[in-house]
Amino acid sequence: MKTFYIETFGCQMNAHDSEKVTGTLLARGYTQVEGPEAADLVLYNTCSIRDKAEQKVFHRLQQFKRDAGKGKVFGVLGCVAQQEGERIFERAPHVSLVAGSASYTRLPDLLVQIENGGRRVTGLSLDTEETFDTPYTRRDNPHRAYITIIEGCDKSCAYCVVPFTRGPERSRTSASVMAEARQLAGSGYTEIQLLGQNVNSYRDPSEAGWDFARLLREMAQVDGIRRVRFTTSHPRDFVRDIIDAIDEFPTLCNHVHLPVQSGSTEVLSRMRRQYSRDEYMRRIEWMKSAKRDIAISTDIITGFPGETEADFNATLALLDEVEYDSVFSFKYSPRPNTHALALETQLSEEEKGRRLTILQERQRSIQIRRNSRLVGTLEECLVEGYNLATGQWIGRTTQNRTLNFTHPVFSEPRDGRTLAGTYASVRVTRSGPNSLAGEAAAAASAA
Ligand code: 5AD
Ligand code: SF4
Repeated sequence: MKTFYIETFGCQMNAHDSEKVTGTLLARGYTQVEGPEAADLVLYNTCSIRDKAEQKVFHRLQQFKRDAGKGKVFGVLGCVAQQEGERIFERAPHVSLVAGSASYTRLPDLLVQIENGGRRVTGLSLDTEETFDTPYTRRDNPHRAYITIIEGCDKSCAYCVVPFTRGPERSRTSASVMAEARQLAGSGYTEIQLLGQNVNSYRDPSEAGWDFARLLREMAQVDGIRRVRFTTSHPRDFVRDIIDAIDEFPTLCNHVHLPVQSGSTEVLSRMRRQYSRDEYMRRIEWMKSAKRDIAISTDIITGFPGETEADFNATLALLDEVEYDSVFSFKYSPRPNTHALALETQLSEEEKGRRLTILQERQRSIQIRRNSRLVGTLEECLVEGYNLATGQWIGRTTQNRTLNFTHPVFSEPRDGRTLAGTYASVRVTRSGPNSLAGEAAAAASAA
C-alpha cells in the first residue's frame, strides 16, 4: 500500500494537522494522489463543530463503500473520529483506522498496524501532555506557513465540542516554536500564522516562561518574516499587552479575530463564555484606541437555546457599535456531550435561520460602508495568486482583506514568472462587501 489521498474539513488547525499527517506519510514512502479513486489509503480529516460538518464525512464514506473490498483502506481522523470513536466502525464497517488529533504522534505506529493488515486500528486517548511536533510537515502554501503554538482547549463553552475532541491545553516550548519560525524564514516563507484554539492562553512550559505577547514580540523580529498573524483568541484571556505589541511591531498584522458569539450578557453567561458584553467591549476599545488601525473580525452564533428577540437585538446593536470588518456567523447546532444540550428552550431551525439572515444582511451593509472608506488608499498586499477568469492578481492586505488588482507590467503570469509570493503596493479603486479592487501602484518585480 503506497498511495494516499487526504481530504480535510474544518478549521485551520485541521488544515495544518493534515499538512503534518501528509508529511509523515511522505516520509514513510507513500505518494500523495489527487483523488480517492487512485489511492490505496483514503483519509478524511474531519470536523464536528456543527452537525452539517459531521454529516459530510459519513456521506463521503458511503460514496466509496464498495471499493473497500478491493484493498482500499479508509481512515477517519480529527474531530469526528475523536467524538464518535469506535462507533464509526459500526456506522461505516469498511473503515480501518479511527484517530483523533491528540494521537497523531502515534501515527507511524498506527500506520504499521494498518500496513500489516490491521482492522479497527484506533488512536483515541485524550490523556496526553504531548503536542504533535514533527520535522515532516508538507505545507500547502509556499509563502504563508502555519505554526501550532498551543493545542487543545481548557474552556467549556456550553455549545462547543472542541474540548472533547482536542483534549486539554498543551503549549509548545518557545524554543521549539521559534526554531520552526526561523527554519521557515530560511526556506523563504514570509508570513507566519500562529495557531491554537486559544492562542491567548499560550504559556511557554520551559523555564523561559513566555506568555503570548512575548512570543508575538519575538516572532515579529525573526529575520525574513514580514507578517505574523494569529488565530483564534478568547476574549477572557485577551490582554492589552497584545495590542501594545501590535502597536510596536508593524510585522504583527493589524487584524484581530475576537469571537464574541452573542451581544447579550445573559446569553453569554448561559454559553459559559466567562465575560460580559461590557468586558468584551473594553477589549474592542483597546483596539479602537490603538495607534494602528486594527481590523476586527468575530464569530457569532444565532439562536442559542433561550435566545430571546431582545437578546438577538442586542447582538445586532453590537454589530453596529463595533463595526466589524468581517463576521463569521452560524446557526446554533446542538452537539454531543455539551452543556447546552440540557438547556430547555431550543429554537426551531427556521427561527435560527431567520435570525442568521437578518444578522448577515446587517453586517453586509456595515462591510460595504467600511470597505468603501478604503477607496483611494495605498495598501501593501501579499500576492496569493492570479485569477484567470477575472484577469486580476489576488492580494491580501495586512488587515486580512482580499484586494484583487491589475498590474501595469505583469498583466498575467508569464514565462514561468509570477507575482505570487511578492509584496505589491496597490491603489484601491473600488470596494464591495467582501473585497477590494485596485491597481498596482509601482512596477514590482516578478519572482
Ligand atoms: N453551533 C454553531 N456554531 C458553533 N460554533 C462552535 N460551536 C458551535 C455550535 N455548536 C462556532 C463558534 C466558534 C466557531 C469556530 O464556530 O462561533 O467560534
Ligand atoms: Fe472543527 Fe473545531 Fe475540530 Fe476545528 S477544532 S476541526 S473547527 S471541531
